[in-house]
Amino acid sequence: MNCRLGKGRPEDYAGDAIIALVYQGENRYRGVVKKIIDDAMERGHFSGEPNELFQVFPCDSLKAGRLIIAGLGKREKADFDSIRRAAAGAVRTVRKLKKAAYLPFDNSRQTLSPIIEGALLGNYRFDTLKADKKKIELVEISFFSGAPGISQTDIDRVRIITEGTIAARDLANLPANKLTPAILASEAKKLGRKHGIMVKELSEADLRRLKMEALLSVGKGSENRPRMVVWEYKGARKNDAPIVLVGKGVTFDSGGISLKPGEGMGAMKGDMSGAGAVISLIPTLAKLKPNINVIGITPLVENMPSGAAYRPGDILTASNGKTIEVISTDAEGRLILADALVYAGRYKPQYVIDIATLTGACMVALGIHICAGIMGNDQQLIDRLVKAGEESGERLWQLPLWREYREFLKTPAADMKNSGGRWGGAITAGSFLSNFAEGYKWAHLDIAGMDNEESGNHPFRYQGATGWGARLLARFILDRAAAK
Ligand code: BES
Ligand code: MN
Ligand code: ZN
Repeated sequence: MNCRLGKGRPEDYAGDAIIALVYQGENRYRGVVKKIIDDAMERGHFSGEPNELFQVFPCDSLKAGRLIIAGLGKREKADFDSIRRAAAGAVRTVRKLKKAAYLPFDNSRQTLSPIIEGALLGNYRFDTLKADKKKIELVEISFFSGAPGISQTDIDRVRIITEGTIAARDLANLPANKLTPAILASEAKKLGRKHGIMVKELSEADLRRLKMEALLSVGKGSENRPRMVVWEYKGARKNDAPIVLVGKGVTFDSGGISLKPGEGMGAMKGDMSGAGAVISLIPTLAKLKPNINVIGITPLVENMPSGAAYRPGDILTASNGKTIEVISTDAEGRLILADALVYAGRYKPQYVIDIATLTGACMVALGIHICAGIMGNDQQLIDRLVKAGEESGERLWQLPLWREYREFLKTPAADMKNSGGRWGGAITAGSFLSNFAEGYKWAHLDIAGMDNEESGNHPFRYQGATGWGARLLARFILDRAAAK
């Protein structure tokens, strides 16, 4: 989408539509727009409630073809997400038009970001796999701002970050027959070539040489063989310690021999959302060029039952030599992350952050679509991620990783088992990972429950993959680079 900074008087904007976001019972606009909104409010057509939309056209007194008013709800209750929602709701009414503009909203720099995010995400649609594609005519959105000093560069920056979410959605929306580990690896390489970023693909033989039995075992049951993709963005001096991102890339999680129940199993095509978020950062970093080094590591497997599949009871030796007794082949994410986290250590990282649709238990603990769980071994890193989460609207809530939780993973047969049972399942998964995230500062994001929107009536999430995490990670990285 072409995103432009609105120039001149917004009343003179001559595109197809202008959009005003309005708090309930307030009207801070001026001139003709103010009059129209006042009128709509007086007649009881519009009050500014959340999700409320009202269109006025034709408006003789405006050059634009129509005015769209979108409600934000009461000012005291509204936050950045209210702005994203209203901006997204409004954009859906103008998709058959060519050009639309958002009126200046307030004098703050901070509100521009949620408006652009809402506009671009609300406009998202996944119809790659449909023969009958509905055409989106909208080609250009202008954003007027009341904040002093906003430039086209500011707009571009938000657009580029938001396009990361869109790229992550496009990947995670592909079903498992169209996105195998091999295909996902080739998509990552394609992005690398396009944006001048080094992407290497480790083959099964490479992984065997690296002694990644945990990762390889998960992939044993599938004809779609495992691999690992590693990309390197070099924005700083060579010896500057990088941030390493590790994304869970299970292109389909059937549960393996510990087969999942059939109902809802199709949603497990989204079990590579963590890897999707990590890979989608390739264009973001290439375009914004932050002064920092970043590595992306994505272990890619399909978890299937078959005569060749790994089994409950198997004992695996991970690449750091630790042994794992398999209790459930459905606790596969932590197994592939184990080897990827060990691999992360070779980069002498400043930080390692893993992102994974890891446990249903995290959804039980924190709910769905509210926030992801975060755990780790470094409070400053966690605090910084939580802050980036608040800025991006992709919120995180910390769970404890006290050493007592390791008790749940004890087994006489091996160094640990891969499931801690029912209680504290999100934490015991994190605790499991801490056995492999050693010698560096690390945080783990459990995004189960955030990756997939089922309803289809959310204004900016759309139905299907949410692309969750791309904006959070981009913000975090850009904040770290800016702090140098
Ligand atoms: N991919 C799932 C977790 C998941 C569940 C993600 C629902 C998104 C929505 C993961 O591999 C899994 O199966 N976890 C098990 C772990 C258990 C066997 C210890 C779970 O959460 O039930
Ligand atoms: Mn599983
Ligand atoms: Zn899984």
